[in-house]
Amino acid sequence: MRVLVTDPIADAGLARLRDAGHEVTTAYDVEGDALLDAVSDAHALVVRSGTEVTEAVFEAAPDLVIVGRAGIGVDNIDIDAATDHGVVVANAPEGNVRAAAEHTVALAFATARSVPQAHARLTDGEWAKGDYLGTELNGKTLGVVGLGRVGQEVAKRLDGLGMDLVAYDPYIGEERAAQLGAELVEFEECVARADFLTVHVPLTDETEGLVGEAELAEMEDGYVVNVARGGVVDEAALAEAADDGVIAGAALDVFAEEPLSADSPLLSADNVVTTPHLGASTQAAQQNVATDTADQVVAALAGDPVVNA
Ligand code: MLT
Repeated sequence: MRVLVTDPIADAGLARLRDAGHEVTTAYDVEGDALLDAVSDAHALVVRSGTEVTEAVFEAAPDLVIVGRAGIGVDNIDIDAATDHGVVVANAPEGNVRAAAEHTVALAFATARSVPQAHARLTDGEWAKGDYLGTELNGKTLGVVGLGRVGQEVAKRLDGLGMDLVAYDPYIGEERAAQLGAELVEFEECVARADFLTVHVPLTDETEGLVGEAELAEMEDGYVVNVARGGVVDEAALAEAADDGVIAGAALDVFAEEPLSADSPLLSADNVVTTPHLGASTQAAQQNVATDTADQVVAALAGDPVVNA
């Protein structure tokens, strides 16, 4: 059967699809009519976060059986339209969890110690040793919004680095939070007590703009980290809070619109560190999610049960 892959995935995933006898076509960076044309005869579509799988895509692909998402978030896929067209949507929820957690820790340190800013000054020939007085994570309070798979891994790592943990997650119990070393609190308290606030929730109607002007004002010289989804933290409010010194700094890997526009105010705030959605970009994570997704596509095309549908 025909499998169309529209965002780059690891070769191991492509090989697994071909080994199962499927005809695999890669068409990266296609959008609009080119995407509709490419998908028109596909039985399976494999994407990461770059392809918007809209109602029009499902309409253009009458033979589509499954959309495989090589990663966790499915916010780029119109799930209602998939259901209406009888198409299975399956993600790969495990394979990049450690990579995302490690990137969160990396960004917490990067913003606390101004690593990218100091590096940029040094590459410009400036020895700016006196300009960067950093903050230690040890002894500070980490606020985790969302104690799902990634949030839990972040909590474990930063607990091990001597941080006190508070967490907000309406879907887990106090006992589980306590096992992770975290005190479960209400959202407002989590924000107010956090020296470092990290969000690990999907983008939904409930979470869009969850951390906005009012929350940032509560943080009093704190740091914000977002390796989850753009839009969970209000970017305009964050840029202003960072610029005005309301918060000490922020580190963002994800943005409401990707790629991030070069004239985003986030890029002109000195104390905001950015990376281009690299949370899942490790060799191990990409190998994992590519092969996990390929396995699900192969199962669906064989009429077998799909685990992460
Ligand atoms: C995810 O949802 O797993 C990440 O956004 C991974 C990706 O970059 O595709």
